[in-house]
Amino acid sequence: MRILVTGGAGFIGTHVAGALHDAGHDVTVLDVLHPAAHSSPDPTFARADVRDRDAVDAALDGVDVVVHHAAMVGMGVDLADLPEYVGCNDLGTAVLLAGMARAGVRRLVLASSMVVYGEGAYQCSAHGPTAPAPRVEGDLAAGRFEPGCPSCGRRLEPVDVDEDAPLRPRSVYAATKVAQEHLVQAWSIAGAGTAVALRYHNVYGPGMPRDTPYSGVAAIFRSALAAGRAPRVFEDGAQRRDFVHVSDVAAANVLAVGVVPDGFRAFNVASGRPATVGAMAAALAAAMDGPAPVVTGDYRAGDVRHVVASPARAAAELGFTARVGLDEGMRDFATAALRS
Ligand code: UD1
Repeated sequence: MRILVTGGAGFIGTHVAGALHDAGHDVTVLDVLHPAAHSSPDPTFARADVRDRDAVDAALDGVDVVVHHAAMVGMGVDLADLPEYVGCNDLGTAVLLAGMARAGVRRLVLASSMVVYGEGAYQCSAHGPTAPAPRVEGDLAAGRFEPGCPSCGRRLEPVDVDEDAPLRPRSVYAATKVAQEHLVQAWSIAGAGTAVALRYHNVYGPGMPRDTPYSGVAAIFRSALAAGRAPRVFEDGAQRRDFVHVSDVAAANVLAVGVVPDGFRAFNVASGRPATVGAMAAALAAAMDGPAPVVTGDYRAGDVRHVVASPARAAAELGFTARVGLDEGMRDFATAALRS
């Protein structure tokens, strides 16, 4: 198939474009080449912003499937970033979808994120499935990191979050990812085509950006260890995430372009083997033979406590199962080149 990968020069997009090419597809890339990312353009590369209607129209010529990764990611610096997040992620998606409708390109794979869920799913021993209230400053400052039941205050137990969980964005980035999914759904409901949204959990691997306000925790720890410093683990280190290797994420995209859902369908893309941030730090420190992690008790406003994914739907409907486990992945990541 002929596939356009937007954002195909970024961290995840580079791996996705490479895997699609290796699977025998005819791949073209559209990417704005933010100063952070970038290799030399080749003939299948269009340097353009996804908000540029003419460039998008030209890039869509003859395309069967669009794999949409062009986006601003991460927590950002502060609210001054807000217009740029909404511009790149939501206006960009709108321009792309309108272009696809004009060009008759009817299939889309959207890079979404587990951030759409906000806090993951929880269970109260007295009240059953329960959505925690946002954590408050006083509790965090006192070292009370686990969210409590809004009805009785009991400590909640995290459970696997599946794709039918409510969308509760807790950051600007998360809000733009929810909006992307909603725009894509509206495009599909209007009869323009079908779409798969891949909700990535915490992706890491070669080519990850170095330590910036837009980087994930694995890159921050990797940069610290490379400089001989201990990873600084926030809260008590027991917060859980699902760290998924970028080669598995690329494989999920290869499977997703082969699936034509009935309208819009979202999938968790996760390893299915959650780890605490403390355990991830320890695995990476061991792999790099560096100083042991330090648990600081610091916390960040807006951070969620646990997000643990159910990988069941992606296994059943995409045939996706992650191959790379945490220790093996961290050994690979320990020596991988990062993006400066
Ligand atoms: C991350 C990404 C988000 C992406 C999602 C799914 C960032 C900033 N966040 O969300 O964009 O959509 O994964 O792939 O890229 N922590 C430390 N020490 C540090 C920094 C962070 O202990 O120096 C902790 C945080 O407090 C948090 C955990 O590590 O508990 C994960 O943080 P982070 O990687 O920033 O992001 P997520 O919120 O999981």
